[in-house]
Amino acid sequence: MLNIILFGPPGSGKGTQANLLKEKYQLLHISTGDLLREEIANGTKLGLEAKTLMDKGELVPDEVVVGMIQSKLDANKKAKGLILDGFPRTVKQAEALDQLLGELNSPINALVSIVVDEEELKQRLLLRGKESGRPDDQNESIIENRIKEYKNKTTAVATYYENKGKLHEINGVGDVETINKLICSTLDSMSKF
Ligand code: AP5
Repeated sequence: MLNIILFGPPGSGKGTQANLLKEKYQLLHISTGDLLREEIANGTKLGLEAKTLMDKGELVPDEVVVGMIQSKLDANKKAKGLILDGFPRTVKQAEALDQLLGELNSPINALVSIVVDEEELKQRLLLRGKESGRPDDQNESIIENRIKEYKNKTTAVATYYENKGKLHEINGVGDVETINKLICSTLDSMSKF
């Protein structure tokens, strides 16, 4: 099995690249942001509570997202592998993930960190905000808060997997196809596959 985490700040291209990689490697794509937006669209209690935090650019509680991941894993026992997008975002989430995957005897193989400078992130997200109306892309202060949350709570996740020898950094500025090739060559060069 190939289990990878696509990692990076808001707007770094995790979702864009995950959509390409899931086809090539036949992986189950799990985006906690998409799962939360589904809950919001369905008007569930969880969705309503999450929306208040997401609209401010803050993380939702660890136990909420870990529960969603657990349900996805339970419902997809035959998946050939996973591509995790936007999860884990705290060390607590990473520890919970390792425990869940440990029970399945199917650990994380790599964390691919997509590196993009802050100015580029803001431009991409403001542009998407204009085109899609996504609430947390609407203004610079919410985007800055998301980046702040990433720096304060999420960057430690990369260190957590670096200490396990699983961190791979990729330049995320450039055209989507070139970045995709960089990620594929990193994955293909990993000896286990
Ligand atoms: P989430 O949905 O995960 O949002 P995010 O991390 O802010 O990520 P984005 O979707 O904005 O960016 P991305 O890196 O996926 O880039 P994308 O490919 O979309 O989370 C939203 C919220 O949910 C969080 O703030 C939090 O509240 C909550 N949440 C989610 N997961 C959580 C968790 N685990 N724990 C706690 N809370 C959680 O691209 C962005 C834009 O750039 C697009 O318009 C795209 O077309 C464009 N683009 C992509 N690649 C390129 C390129 N190479 N060049 C130019 N433009 C590009």
